[in-house]
Amino acid sequence: MKAQFSPPELCPNCGGSGWEPADGMGVRRCHCMERLRIQRLLAEARIPKRYEHCDQASYLPNNESQKRAKLYVQRFVEKYPNIDVGLLFLGNCGVGKTHLAVALLKQVIEEKGDGGIFYDFRDLLREIQSSWNSVAQTSELDVLRPVLEAKILVLDELGANKPTEWVRDTIAHIINCRYNEKKLTIFTSNYLDTASKPGEETLSDRIGVRLRSRLYEMCREVEIQGLDFRREVKKARYHF
Ligand SMILES: Nc1ncnc2c1ncn2[C@@H]1O[C@H](COP(=O)(O)OP(=O)(O)OP(=O)(O)O)[C@@H](O)[C@H]1O
Ligand SMILES: [Mg+2]
Ligand SMILES: [Zn+2]
Repeated sequence: MKAQFSPPELCPNCGGSGWEPADGMGVRRCHCMERLRIQRLLAEARIPKRYEHCDQASYLPNNESQKRAKLYVQRFVEKYPNIDVGLLFLGNCGVGKTHLAVALLKQVIEEKGDGGIFYDFRDLLREIQSSWNSVAQTSELDVLRPVLEAKILVLDELGANKPTEWVRDTIAHIINCRYNEKKLTIFTSNYLDTASKPGEETLSDRIGVRLRSRLYEMCREVEIQGLDFRREVKKARYHF
């Protein structure tokens, strides 16, 4: 994603210096510098292009669970940073879990000025794995550091990968580090806590019982029900 920085030399207020005169006080930082910082944070947040437009206003709830989920996002942002648990969005495909997680992340960056990062869980594992295998172009820590240190992390599609021992150890490491540092994490997952039909895997099956238990402490669960929005939009568009 390319950053859309407005070059400071275009700022009519400070003429690009980043400083403006303050009455009788010499100079102070121009507000364009803060805007630039926010644009930089947004560009560094790794929000996928497809979700760049997502915000609270464009999420139109279709049922009570969706209304509630949107309300949790609203409350989270209002209270931030005075908040000590993240959110765990659970639900089927296309109910808007990623949309709401991105909306939250963008709002924290834009309105609170804190940095955050979005990672699809599978991409994260892939990056960590390749940083292990390659002759250290990036070390494992280079990939992990921003994930461990981000004030707010969105980990999308938790449990989407086959739960090998390596995958479980890696999630455990990330979750434990963030848990110990009391950092906020927003998770999304397609796996629910109870199987709706025999043989269906649960979140605990995918990430292990111990980690699921950690998440109870770290996050508030927000289950979202509903139809797949992508399918509904397509049906409405083609009238079939
Ligand atoms: N209630 C809604 N109002 C407006 N747009 C919605 C709503 N629900 C979903 N969408 C849109 O539908 C698409 C699918 O939503 P999203 O990717 O957030 O679903 P998801 O729950 O994360 O699905 P998956 O489990 O497949 O990852 C996105 O483009 C999103 O912006
Ligand atoms: Mg999603
Ligand atoms: Zn300026």
